[in-house]
Amino acid sequence: MQTLEFRDHDAMPILGLGTWKSSPGEVGAAVKAAIAAGYRHLDCAAIYRNEAEIGQALRECFAEGLVQREELWVTSKLWNDSHRPEHVRSAIDQTLADLQLDYLDLYLIHWPVCLPHGQLLPETGEDLIALEEQPIADTWQAMEALITAGVCRHLGVSNFSTKKLAALCEVATVPPELNQIELHPHLQQAVMLDFCTAHNIHLTAYSPLGSGDRPDAFKAADEPVLLENPTITMIADRHQATPAQVLLAWAIARGTAAIPKSTNPDRLAENLAAADVRLTETDLAEIATLDRHYRYVSGSFWAMDGSPYSLETLWDETA
Ligand code: A2P
Repeated sequence: MQTLEFRDHDAMPILGLGTWKSSPGEVGAAVKAAIAAGYRHLDCAAIYRNEAEIGQALRECFAEGLVQREELWVTSKLWNDSHRPEHVRSAIDQTLADLQLDYLDLYLIHWPVCLPHGQLLPETGEDLIALEEQPIADTWQAMEALITAGVCRHLGVSNFSTKKLAALCEVATVPPELNQIELHPHLQQAVMLDFCTAHNIHLTAYSPLGSGDRPDAFKAADEPVLLENPTITMIADRHQATPAQVLLAWAIARGTAAIPKSTNPDRLAENLAAADVRLTETDLAEIATLDRHYRYVSGSFWAMDGSPYSLETLWDETA
């Protein structure tokens, strides 16, 4: 498995297991099946509300000798209600307690969006706190202290625009090493990729398969189904691979990590085997034509009426 190299030569396996939308009651078995199949990178987050079950599964994997802690790369994320510096340490401590680990490999600010402490989601737009009131720079300083404390090895962000990344790089003592964003052939984000390459920031692709199991409330009626895209299925046939494998091989070919979610043992193995699919220049050129700047995760849930955030200020893009 290819890896992405971090500072101190730590290496993150380029494919990891996504755990967003993996239900309680399912996620533990999925983690165990994934580790047994050879996954060595897990992507978690406090807001997925399944870290305790993942922790139990990890404990069992360690006890059974399936894997050792040092062989795993574990990422988790600071939720929006814990941006105040005084809440950062307790947030990671809760995640570590749930995961039954004493350090994370990577800890990310989940969204450049802030909520009052203890409120996981906004009920109205007025609930959200503007970044001017609770600056990312202050949260980041508290994140940096986690490195010194030894509770995580690397820091990054998620859902950050190039503008927000650049602003963070200006003030950071420990620079962000990774941005986790939605990336797939319908949202290729070439400018972001160039920016991150120039600034030694890795990218991880979330929703690399098009996130078909999102709640219906977050889905557009006419949204494109990536796994059924004719160009993707044609390339899959050419390689005797599956559409999912082509999508993951595309992420790898661009030097980005990807964290496909599955709770199905066959699909877990299929996704991991994508690391062996090598796309040709022709394949890549065909996939390049599929870009349509389409977000499956639009972020509209932060841009409700009365919110200090709009889609334009969230993504720093004009509509
Ligand atoms: P399941 O968990 O039943 O395998 P994303 O990673 O983009 O969020 O996509 C996750 C969705 O894709 C889930 O519905 C997951 O279902 C499905 N999925 C995961 N792997 C594959 C695969 N190899 N082929 C088809 N669907 C897949």
